[in-house]
Amino acid sequence: MLLNHTPSPELSPLAIGEDISPLPTIKSAGTTEVDFSGLLTKPLRLHEDLAQGCGGQLWPAGMTLARHMLRYHRDDLRKSRILELGAGGGLVGLAVAKGCAVDGPLYVTDQAGMFPLMEHNITLNDLSSRVKAAVLNWGKPLPREIVDLRANVILAADCVYFEPAFPLLMATLTDLLTLCPSATVFFCFKKRRRADMQFLKKAQKTFRVVVIEDQDRHAFSRQGLFLYTFSSKAQHKQLPETKNR
Ligand SMILES: C[S@@+](CC[C@H](N)C(=O)[O-])C[C@H]1O[C@@H](n2cnc3c(N)ncnc32)[C@H](O)[C@@H]1O
Repeated sequence: MLLNHTPSPELSPLAIGEDISPLPTIKSAGTTEVDFSGLLTKPLRLHEDLAQGCGGQLWPAGMTLARHMLRYHRDDLRKSRILELGAGGGLVGLAVAKGCAVDGPLYVTDQAGMFPLMEHNITLNDLSSRVKAAVLNWGKPLPREIVDLRANVILAADCVYFEPAFPLLMATLTDLLTLCPSATVFFCFKKRRRADMQFLKKAQKTFRVVVIEDQDRHAFSRQGLFLYTFSSKAQHKQLPETKNR
């Protein structure tokens, strides 16, 4: 994998173990080039800057989900309406826009503090014609342009890391799957605390949760990373033959 800038530390400010809280390793701002183990011929350029929040650096679940999408969904997303939640600097969405056949617009979303970084990274990769940045706060009403998008492919990586935000994220996922019952959420997270599995239990009660195949599963499972699709249970009942997406 090509990484010209200091790789994002595993001990990020929020990668806290269950019993100990190591001092955070704050990464200095800079631009990283990443080709996802050679899956991109021309690397993605990502500016990382933690000044506005933890999303300002690349996270391990984001790397895993981006690699999965590039490997398994390169050619089947052209007509999809794609939305990334908690995008940080836009790692997953921008990788998909760059390496998969996508007509767009693809939306990368996060809280207001991350907006300039998402915009900067869209420009850095010359993706302004196909990728848009938007502010989407979990638990709040969906912005008009996101309602209008009616996303049918939703990407969420490393969005399970802060327990008070779990119900907010659940509410937004529920809103999105109500808006578009045929949508598929590609959901990747790293278990850091016991509570993280509570989010998954809640998701299993609410959505149809499927473990998806990935050639790297063995390796990323060892790092505590989980990769699933979520979809609407109601939709699945109506269409019993529906595959993962
Ligand atoms: C750990 S970072 C992951 C960033 C990126 N997806 C990745 O994998 O590199 C989690 C992201 O979720 C965003 N986030 C946290 N709470 C949020 C909320 N209530 N509404 C929207 N985004 C939120 C943060 O701003 C941050 O960018």
